Amino acid sequence: MEFSVKNGSVEKQRTACLVVGVYEPRRLCSAAEQLDKLSNGYISTLLRRGDLEGKAGQTLLLHNVPNVPADRVLLVGCGKERELTERQYKQIIQKTVQTINDTGSMEMVCFLTELHVKGRSPYWNVRFAVETIQETQYAYNDFKSIKPEVRRELRRVIFNVANRKDLADAERALEHGKAVALGVTNAKNVANCPPNVCNPKYLAELAKGLATEYDTISTTIVDEKQMAELGMNAYLAVSRASENEAFLSVIEYKGSPNPDAKPIVLVGKGMTFDSGGLSIKPAEAMDEMKYDMCGAASVYGTMKAIAEMRLPLNVIGLLAGCENAVDGKAYRPGDILTTMSGLTVEVLNTDAEGRLVLCDALTYVERFEPELVIDIATLTGACMIALGNHNSGLMSPSNSLANELLSAAEQADDKAWRLPLGEEYQEQLKSNFADLANIGGRLGGAITAGQFLANFTKKYTWAHLDIAGTAWKSGAAKGATGRPVSLLTQFLINKAHI
Ligand code: BES
Ligand code: MN
Ligand code: ZN
Repeated sequence: MEFSVKNGSVEKQRTACLVVGVYEPRRLCSAAEQLDKLSNGYISTLLRRGDLEGKAGQTLLLHNVPNVPADRVLLVGCGKERELTERQYKQIIQKTVQTINDTGSMEMVCFLTELHVKGRSPYWNVRFAVETIQETQYAYNDFKSIKPEVRRELRRVIFNVANRKDLADAERALEHGKAVALGVTNAKNVANCPPNVCNPKYLAELAKGLATEYDTISTTIVDEKQMAELGMNAYLAVSRASENEAFLSVIEYKGSPNPDAKPIVLVGKGMTFDSGGLSIKPAEAMDEMKYDMCGAASVYGTMKAIAEMRLPLNVIGLLAGCENAVDGKAYRPGDILTTMSGLTVEVLNTDAEGRLVLCDALTYVERFEPELVIDIATLTGACMIALGNHNSGLMSPSNSLANELLSAAEQADDKAWRLPLGEEYQEQLKSNFADLANIGGRLGGAITAGQFLANFTKKYTWAHLDIAGTAWKSGAAKGATGRPVSLLTQFLINKAHI
């Protein structure tokens, strides 16, 4: 898809399709009004006849509008002017793209970016439009031998901004939006990939691919032999029953003008399949445990996005690749593992494997003397129960880091909600035989998982994102969401002060 922005007048656009908004009830936005004047009231006459009320998502496609040089004019209902929210704006853009895909127009000049979205600037209108269009056009067909027929799809999109002075912001929004969308798309592709293909080795190959693609990136891979030397015994225990060896990929992006600037570190859980191990999961929806690597997928996507934008920061992304399988070598409930940090952990449930892999990865990153560390993981079903599918769970002992992440989440419209940590929860992790147990009982399951990780992150500023509810959708629309790539990328954009 090709995107551009301009500040042009609606009467002069020679294009396959002009897109303008109509508010409820039958109120033309300024671009539509200009077209109405030019066509001597053609549009308002249609509206008066009742063809379009302006309800959000309604559309009316017009051909040969008098005196208008564009082939088509698409009127899009935008709801009540004062109630236009981000969510509604995105739905309107989505509906627009779906409608245009059915018309055979390969280009649109879109005036919806001129609308006023509550609390948002022209920058955000353009950025959300790019992200939403890419989202709408996304399909994962790599494994379909019969590919769905592609019609003459939308190829070129030109967004209009109302004021010339907003053009620079709009250009920046375009670059950011394209980079975020690329990151999201890549994260989705990796996440949707089946677990017999996307194994830890596959993740490592992707990580190495980034180093070939971008001169700002170098990648190193830690294999099981090196993990053993480092004492990453919790990570190795989880991997032991799998035929697929574990690989920890370390992706280093150097973009800061100061090469010695302390890095921001992102650690992604990359469980390419989570069977539960000996504490095996029930069969229902077990296929969805291929998505247990969505944390790693989001780190991969974010690294790609920041490399595209050439953000002036140093960032290190880890993909903690592993598979939780079952065989005679499987680790057991009752086993006591000595983690890389030296802390011992009694395994009470082999399905609480993510924290075991992450605790060693989080110890490993101490070597980078990070400015801060964020781990991203589909860690607990309990987080889905607590927050549903809409908010990722955020936990951090640092109020300032938590607040920065919450505002990035709000800016990017990739929502997160903070949950507490604390010594009360630490009590739940007591073991009779080791320093820690790997589960903390039924109550506050998302929090005790975060609290478990807190024991391994004392040497730096740290936050944990539990994306179990937000990383993918189940049911008819089953598929990865690419979250929280846009949250993380926004956080890094903010850190780069660009
Ligand atoms: N990957 C799962 C968490 C998960 C489950 C995410 C379902 C999304 C949907 C994680 O490894 C896990 O199994 N967690 C257990 C922890 C429990 C044993 C304390 C869980 O949430 O049930
Ligand atoms: Mn599990
Ligand atoms: Zn898991």
